[in-house]
Amino acid sequence: MIIAIDGPAGSGKSTIANILASRFGYNKLDSGAMYRTVAFICADDGIDLNDEDAVVRRADALDIAFDTTGPRARVLADGRDVTDDIRTPATDRIVSAVSAYPGVRSALLPCQRAFANGRDVVAEGRDIGTVVFPDADLKVFLTADPRERARRRVLQRHPEGAPDATTMERELTQTLADLERRDEIDAHRAVAPLRAADDAVSIDSTAHTIDEIVDRIVELANERRAQ
Ligand code: CDP
Repeated sequence: MIIAIDGPAGSGKSTIANILASRFGYNKLDSGAMYRTVAFICADDGIDLNDEDAVVRRADALDIAFDTTGPRARVLADGRDVTDDIRTPATDRIVSAVSAYPGVRSALLPCQRAFANGRDVVAEGRDIGTVVFPDADLKVFLTADPRERARRRVLQRHPEGAPDATTMERELTQTLADLERRDEIDAHRAVAPLRAADDAVSIDSTAHTIDEIVDRIVELANERRAQ
């Protein structure tokens, strides 16, 4: 079975996809991590990110692998561990421009499809239900109010607990602006834009707990399995 979860940043895709994958014993495909890896490696190599041909050449040559043997999945780019590098605000700011290049998308598409290769998968991203796995058994499009999504992203960056009110407000303003800019690029690019597949179930997570969303998706998956 393939479960596709698409949606904008901070909608809860990763958390929910992780829980579903471990509950069902499925493999989890984090397609965003692959786009992040291309963006980070190109920047780190000093490639001009406006030079589409150079970025696409690097994406074509890059080997991206997931190491799931430890407690936390690691992302390897040509064997180098980039797990933390791809989650920084600096990578957040460049990833959407890089992932809008059609050549980058076609470099990653075969790897994403090969990841499934007859296995049960929970895949998360922006175009999973529309492009990567158009025949997925269940497609969910997860959304949430932008301010709530920004709040979640700021809190994620402070595992030690919420910062003081002034810092929180400052980071919230910056994160909201970054996130809306990324949504704008992702939703309006020519190839594989962020959108719900026609047959996706849309779920707004703004006022719901993670458990409530997971329960709803488990219910949907069980219904599909019974069909
Ligand atoms: O975790 P977050 O929602 O912030 O982002 P992500 O899923 O890691 O994706 C990072 C970026 O990669 C997105 O903003 C998109 O620009 C791009 N992406 C994409 O174009 N297609 C996908 N299937 C997944 C991610």
